[in-house]
Amino acid sequence: MVPSVRSTALITGASGGIGAVYADRLARRGHDLLLVGRDTGRLTQVAHAAMRHGVAVETMRADLAESAGIQRVVARLREDDTIAFLVNNAGVGAPPGLINADIDRLEAMIMLNVTAVTRLAATAATRFAAAGRGAIVNMSSALAVLPELFDGVYSGTKAFVLNLSLSMHKELAGSNVRVQVVLPGVIRTGFLTNAGADGTAFPAEMMMDAETMVDAAMAGFDAGEVVTIPSLPDMADWDAYNAARLTLGPNLSRQYSASRYARAGSGADGGDR
Ligand SMILES: NC(=O)c1ccc[n+]([C@@H]2O[C@H](COP(=O)([O-])OP(=O)(O)OC[C@H]3O[C@@H](n4cnc5c(N)ncnc54)[C@H](OP(=O)(O)O)[C@@H]3O)[C@@H](O)[C@H]2O)c1
Repeated sequence: MVPSVRSTALITGASGGIGAVYADRLARRGHDLLLVGRDTGRLTQVAHAAMRHGVAVETMRADLAESAGIQRVVARLREDDTIAFLVNNAGVGAPPGLINADIDRLEAMIMLNVTAVTRLAATAATRFAAAGRGAIVNMSSALAVLPELFDGVYSGTKAFVLNLSLSMHKELAGSNVRVQVVLPGVIRTGFLTNAGADGTAFPAEMMMDAETMVDAAMAGFDAGEVVTIPSLPDMADWDAYNAARLTLGPNLSRQYSASRYARAGSGADGGDR
């Protein structure tokens, strides 16, 4: 359920790809929009298309891989109480691997995919909880649970987004603020090329259009999902994965080490003690 009172949706990375589709879909639902990105020409194009749905649209140029850019968007989010919907979407990839990696590029990616996402999420959570309404959509990736498929740094940023979202959902329970995290597979946007990956390397049956992805994510949102995996045929598979993870919980922090690590006098539990 999208917040019922007319409100503004702040979408980061709205100049193309997934963010531009969110702009179209949220405008169709009657949200005014604040579109954030670096490319003002493309932001303006997306804004003009969204305005055709009769909503007010504003663009804001900000580089979210830089502190100053993050701070400007955070300040707007903090001060503008018409904003009740955050699509925390902007993100980039980088060529895979750590050996000979361009560390500055990785750091910029972490700044955008982790720092900006966290600052915006924290600001939105604080203000929306105080207002008693709002929704936060965080864009993760299927790679959050499959680092072996691509790269530990990018997938690590997306695992961060997943963890952040799960804990935000818990923290915001009872506040009337929704949190959704979306884990897309490979989506046909400029993302892969920008990340230095070969988009043609993926079979067509692995790739989804951004329109299909966002429509599925919004259907998941409407259905009340916290975790949405647009291409996963059976959500019971995710539930089983998650249940297995949670089963570990009680045994991950104990007074004694496990018996397989036991040495004489080491304080291992020696079994089921
Ligand atoms: N495409 C995929 O296969 C895929 C799969 C799973 C998850 N995702 C995630 O989905 C999200 C959107 O990706 P996409 O596929 O739509 O990619 P995209 O087409 O490359 O779009 C990325 C968006 O992020 C913005 N952006 C990039 N760097 C930025 C910066 N420093 N400051 C502010 N905005 C910046 C870009 O706008 P400007 O260039 O105007 O700044 C653009 O609007 C990302 O978080 C990505 O990790 C994508």
